Amino acid sequence: MPHSTAVLSGSGLALGVHIGHDRSAALVKNGKLIAHVAQERLDRVKMSPGSSIPFQAIVAVLGQTGYTIRDVDAVGFSFENCMVDQLSSWFEDQFTCYFDISKITTIPVSHHLAHAWSVRAVSGFKRCAVLVCDGAGEFIKPDPQKAGKAGSQSSGGMEGESLFFAQGDKLELCDRRLQSFLHDIYDRPFFYNSSQMPEMFAKQTVGIGRKYEQFTYFIGFGNEQNGKTMGLASYGKPLIDTRQWPVIDFRYKLTLSDILHEIEEVAHASSMSIGAFLRLRRADAASTVQRFTEEAVLGLARYAKHTLGESTLCVSGGVFLNCVANHKIAQADLFKELFAMPACGDEGQALGAAFAVSAALKGSAPKAVSAHTDSSVDMENGEAEHELFAPPVLPYAGLQHDRFEIEAAISRNSLAHKWYQDDNVLADEIAAMIESGLTVGLLRGRSEMGPRALGHRSILADPRSPTMKDHLNARVKFREAFRPYAPMVLAEHATEIFDLVCPSPYMLFACDVRPKYRTALPAVTHVDSTARVQTVDAQEPFLRALLLAFYRRTGFAVLLNTSFNLAGEPIVETPEDAIRAFLACGLDALVLECAVIKKAEPRSRLNGESKPQQVTQMA
Ligand SMILES: [Fe+2]
Repeated sequence: MPHSTAVLSGSGLALGVHIGHDRSAALVKNGKLIAHVAQERLDRVKMSPGSSIPFQAIVAVLGQTGYTIRDVDAVGFSFENCMVDQLSSWFEDQFTCYFDISKITTIPVSHHLAHAWSVRAVSGFKRCAVLVCDGAGEFIKPDPQKAGKAGSQSSGGMEGESLFFAQGDKLELCDRRLQSFLHDIYDRPFFYNSSQMPEMFAKQTVGIGRKYEQFTYFIGFGNEQNGKTMGLASYGKPLIDTRQWPVIDFRYKLTLSDILHEIEEVAHASSMSIGAFLRLRRADAASTVQRFTEEAVLGLARYAKHTLGESTLCVSGGVFLNCVANHKIAQADLFKELFAMPACGDEGQALGAAFAVSAALKGSAPKAVSAHTDSSVDMENGEAEHELFAPPVLPYAGLQHDRFEIEAAISRNSLAHKWYQDDNVLADEIAAMIESGLTVGLLRGRSEMGPRALGHRSILADPRSPTMKDHLNARVKFREAFRPYAPMVLAEHATEIFDLVCPSPYMLFACDVRPKYRTALPAVTHVDSTARVQTVDAQEPFLRALLLAFYRRTGFAVLLNTSFNLAGEPIVETPEDAIRAFLACGLDALVLECAVIKKAEPRSRLNGESKPQQVTQMA
């Protein structure tokens, strides 16, 4: 693999960059995450797909941390379906032109390896199994010499699932399953309709993540809307027994037509076209692929346990945004510890690339980091290793906005506000507004990485309200009525209210709401009595103060927490973004750090109705 021979600055600063969908940038200093931001938060384009380098995100992470590009030792980039030789040169040309520098060192990091590095490094575990499962990763070239050996497939294909073993200075690929490349190059809405699928494609191999994406299209949703499929699945029952596609290791059989074909047979038995059938049974189709996925990832977790015998499992890749499936793994009690990466999707690629490069820099020279052959990464031992595994502050590695910027944004929009000096007083004021039935947008501290808003870019509301879910869907978030809302809960109250078997600080585990709380917390209890829980511990003092204030007022240390964004938009990043969203939807109040802005005519308490709202203007 190519790399520049530039003299390194020796600063220990590694920059990770991801292009494709979910473009992003991350900075790792001496093995420690110091900043990460997704380009979509800045350019305001959902997932910010593109093949150009996300310089806006790169400049932002440098600015957040006070470094310049000249401080960077090397740039890691995760690559996918590209000619890496040309890509390295192109990266270097782009960087030197953009920043007006003479040289930059770039190191390619393969896709699943970047997922594995990201979760392994931020988890803090020195020894663990790492399971990666996503829609599709790297294209792996055919290698007849390795037919039959672990971690290879003679015919080549795209990464679907990979298993790594992490210990000390190694992150070793143990096994993987590749899937067909062909299906990725066709127009999905047409191609994924099984009744029109050409025979030559029907038997192409796919992975678990691709199958879920395929169903998301099949039932009428769009690109990267798997969360909608998961939410809808709770309303249905599987149409067929998905155990006919058992997943017990990486050699399982699953083709592009599997499951779809069998559902079509059910439809035809009802003398219905597939379109008419899906209009009636869409939730059942969603439930079918959800059930398959739960069984499949549990099967792979069992395989990881059987293969490596480790007591700790780390998981990453977009499939592990499926919080229902994650909780099935936790419930199976296979592992003493289970850690799911908050940036599971490809926005985490920049993070993994930065960590992989940081590790590679500790060797004598930068080197490509690839899962194609030997994926072991050498690092120095001792203090350097300790730095790599220093506990990260997760998931709040994004950008922070100071009082000057906030007050400037408020002033530009001619809004009246009150600045609170005492956090406890502010927390009680927010709790009081929520108790009275108001919805509050909250922007505070560094933004979260990953797709879940976890209290720094969130909309908060009363979980006790029977009308709040419909109100939020119709008047604030402008989204489908079936979509559920999630609770944040004080960690020490979590198991009393929720049937949670492990901490869930990143909202990546969905479990049952205990029966006595289901009617008490209707706004956060899904139709199947589950909830996607965020547990809040001592790491988040302001969120704790807020939950405690609400608990003192209501007896519930729970708040409804949903991402602060409008439909189809990324989560807000800046105070200006937050004000724009606040003014465009039915939110009642906005908190920017310590500034509180209220609309003049907030909606009536818990009545589910929104009046046209006016914002208090400055005199
Ligand atoms: Fe991925």
